[in-house]
Amino acid sequence: MSELASESSALRPEDLRSHQWYGGDGLRSFSHRARSRQLGLNPEEHLGKPVIAILNTWSGINPCHLHLRERAQEVARGVWQAGGYPVEMPVSTLSETFQKPTPMMYRNLLAMETEEVLRSYPIDGAVLMGGCDKTTPGLLMGAASADLPAIFVPAGPMLAGHWRGEILGSGTDMWRYWDERRAGTISEADWNSLQSGLARSPGTCMTMGTASTMTSAVEALGMVLPGAASIPAVDSGHHRMAAASGMRVVDLVWENLTPSRILDARAYADAVTTVMALGGSTNAVIHLIAMAGRSQIPLCLDDFDRIARETPVLADIRPGGAFLMEDFHYAGGLRGLLARLADRLHLDRVTVTGRTFGEELAGAEVHDDNVIRPLDRPLATEGGVAVLRGNLAPDGAVIKYVAADPRLLRHTGRAVVFHGYRDLQDRINDPALEITADSVLVLTNAGPKGGPGMPEYGMLPIPDRLLKQGVRDMVRVSDARMSGTSYGACVLHVAPESYVGGPLALVRDGDPVTLDVPERALRLEVPAGELARRRAEWRAPEPMFERGYGALYAEHITQADRGCDFEFLARPGKYPEPYAQ
Ligand code: FES
Repeated sequence: MSELASESSALRPEDLRSHQWYGGDGLRSFSHRARSRQLGLNPEEHLGKPVIAILNTWSGINPCHLHLRERAQEVARGVWQAGGYPVEMPVSTLSETFQKPTPMMYRNLLAMETEEVLRSYPIDGAVLMGGCDKTTPGLLMGAASADLPAIFVPAGPMLAGHWRGEILGSGTDMWRYWDERRAGTISEADWNSLQSGLARSPGTCMTMGTASTMTSAVEALGMVLPGAASIPAVDSGHHRMAAASGMRVVDLVWENLTPSRILDARAYADAVTTVMALGGSTNAVIHLIAMAGRSQIPLCLDDFDRIARETPVLADIRPGGAFLMEDFHYAGGLRGLLARLADRLHLDRVTVTGRTFGEELAGAEVHDDNVIRPLDRPLATEGGVAVLRGNLAPDGAVIKYVAADPRLLRHTGRAVVFHGYRDLQDRINDPALEITADSVLVLTNAGPKGGPGMPEYGMLPIPDRLLKQGVRDMVRVSDARMSGTSYGACVLHVAPESYVGGPLALVRDGDPVTLDVPERALRLEVPAGELARRRAEWRAPEPMFERGYGALYAEHITQADRGCDFEFLARPGKYPEPYAQ
């Protein structure tokens, strides 16, 4: 636990952390007050007020956060109105679309930056502004470690896509039409015109991809104003939510309501239930384990499998369902959905509002049973994610089986192995490749170290010639992740990864591989003696990075089943306050 947080539950101005910078009679505090005047502030405007850092992941290259600069102004308005002093502080943006090899490689860097910015400046509380996939866990991980009062402002989903009378989901329908293009069923002109219909406004992907899965999970954790996660990015309600979050965080500081008082084991269990009921992204498994680790809460893969078996999928949202986030919001949003699951949730825990989770769900209604299904008519009777184990994944693997062809959930096929993404691209459409619809596509070197960063390669492409024969799903196995907007019988997050010598590294072309989702099994049907022989032959690859952040990353990243945090960030231990006065 950080030493930043005071144990008292109500603060006076002289108790504020920022008072160490601005109060007192020393030379340093004199300098801090003088430099505040340089910022254009009169003493009576800010001294004695909680300093609120608005950590903004806006960037000109992140379309999902394009509106966050404007929203930060509204957060600041709320902070001023509530008697605080807002300070906008830009932090890294992680654009899921543009950042390579994958923004997952930089989630922990954002988490470090968040923690250290909060720690090293005269900050009393924080508003965390993000939403594009990895920004949400990155900000929350850092805030949990810093343990200053904080509230998360989700960027909100973009408007629904439209194209020639068809409603489109970003990501999901792009993958779908990419397959149709490769199958030759749509023209080049159609493919090009599709670009204008997929993403019509600022905001995060409007399917139940990783962005909406994670912002919903954080709302369920109690770190977001109730109902905020699904507000469309350009809805006027989003402006009001931003200002209300700014107002609320000031009281959070005075109440000393820190993340460690909100993020307990019950909160994380409810977040997992939420992800399952939403049919959410498999990326949430990794992120929630990492976030719980920062709260020193032991959350493991088996918790996901257990809760998934107990939780029906109620949200009928793409890619597993039919609707989009805008529909979900107007159907009642997360509060409506969670109210239907109230007897499975921990209603007496405190949230960022200072009220209990149960109080925040009270009175929630569902306005469209087709979008948020009733308990007696779920989209699926069990949450869509299963955790698999076996000799191919001793430390576990996951599959989002609700988004897969049911015919493949019990399947044995012969492996077709690709060693890395480049090899996959080079050979997947090679006419000489021996492959059928029953083959199992295997991708190695796509894990946390081997990817690096576990890129979202897990939905391996189906060869063009099989697409033209009408094949739309195959069993695929990798140590990669998969976009939350993707789908298919894709076994992901195989741990340990092949790059560090996990059994995935030992698979050869033609080996039988068995996927058995009902039995939660993933097996390489090769005799143990032969596997031992292959292991003796296996040689660790040369290090990919010899310097810089890549080297730091490779040395400290944990495997997928442990959340891919840096072990030195996840472990408990003291971290002194900086000397200020
Ligand atoms: Fe930003 Fe999907 S690309 S949320």
